[in-house]
Amino acid sequence: MQTMFWADGVLHILDQTKLPGQTEYIQAGDVETVAQAICRLSVRGAPAIGAAAAYGLVIGALAVSTTDKTLFLTALQKVSVQLAATRPTAVNLNWALKRLLTAVNKHSDLDVDGIKQLLLAEADQILEQDIVANRQMGEHGQQLVPPNANILTHCNAGALATAGFGTALGVIRTAHRQGKNIQVYAGETRPLLQGARLTTWEMIQDNIPVTLITDNMAGYLMAQGKVDLVLVGADRIVANGDVANKIGTYSLAVLAQAHNIPFYVAAPTSTLDFSLPTGEQIPVEERDVNEVTAIAGQPIAPAGVPVWNPAFDITPNKLVTAIITEHGVIRQPYVDNLKRMFERG
Ligand code: MRU
Repeated sequence: MQTMFWADGVLHILDQTKLPGQTEYIQAGDVETVAQAICRLSVRGAPAIGAAAAYGLVIGALAVSTTDKTLFLTALQKVSVQLAATRPTAVNLNWALKRLLTAVNKHSDLDVDGIKQLLLAEADQILEQDIVANRQMGEHGQQLVPPNANILTHCNAGALATAGFGTALGVIRTAHRQGKNIQVYAGETRPLLQGARLTTWEMIQDNIPVTLITDNMAGYLMAQGKVDLVLVGADRIVANGDVANKIGTYSLAVLAQAHNIPFYVAAPTSTLDFSLPTGEQIPVEERDVNEVTAIAGQPIAPAGVPVWNPAFDITPNKLVTAIITEHGVIRQPYVDNLKRMFERG
């Protein structure tokens, strides 16, 4: 099942809000449809958002009919701003848009048609390279996964959150394929249940043993000795190694430390943001209160109750045992080691 694919000027986006019940593709042929798909989490997960935004920019470019390059570039910039505003936390979105615009700047000799072709080629590459990076992360991560490991994961950092294979779930998939006899615990991930709906679905499809727990069961699970390692993805990792990921990740990291359990983060270098020194500067998306006051459209709280609904939290680097990237595994001091790995990559 592909998270998204491009065919005849249309981006086909697997609508993840309908999973696991239905597998339907949204046919996005205009920028607004792509932007809406990102906002409402039809396409979600940092690398997948980046790839979708890249194709969104292509769609925006194809819709501009002028051959005047200055007018075209102004229109392109406007589309980029629109797409960048869809979700603030996953840096992959900005990374992808910037990558496309930088490619355009580098090829100043191209006319408008040439730029359109270049943009599409670049978006295709983002998708292809993401799968390669995930497979490499899967391999590098094996040094951290012992045989018979019980692995707790959060949200969905799988094929659905990327161009394919997954980051944290890519490491898990590789361990399973290597016959390590692993067992996965998936936290349900309130409010939108990415763990319950998506991670368990992916694991079951690959015959990887998975047990679903609600988010508030993690501490007791650890206290029972049932977790050997925690492994999650990331939406943004800043210069000092602080990690933004799905709300609830920070709680798991604190619990992991309290139980002496390693806490690992798997993310491609497109998730690194060296422009921010610490996690405090990461913009954390706050979402509609209805996501908390209702489950699958059914109200579960008194009407009008005040709600706080941050979609992500920040895990301080001191709680992160290691970060797995496509170039290898990094440990403290992250300030030096992330930079070194990034420059090498
Ligand atoms: O709100 P979401 O579902 O987009 O949040 C996704 C996550 O937090 C993932 O863990 C993260 O993007 C990494 S995906 C490889």
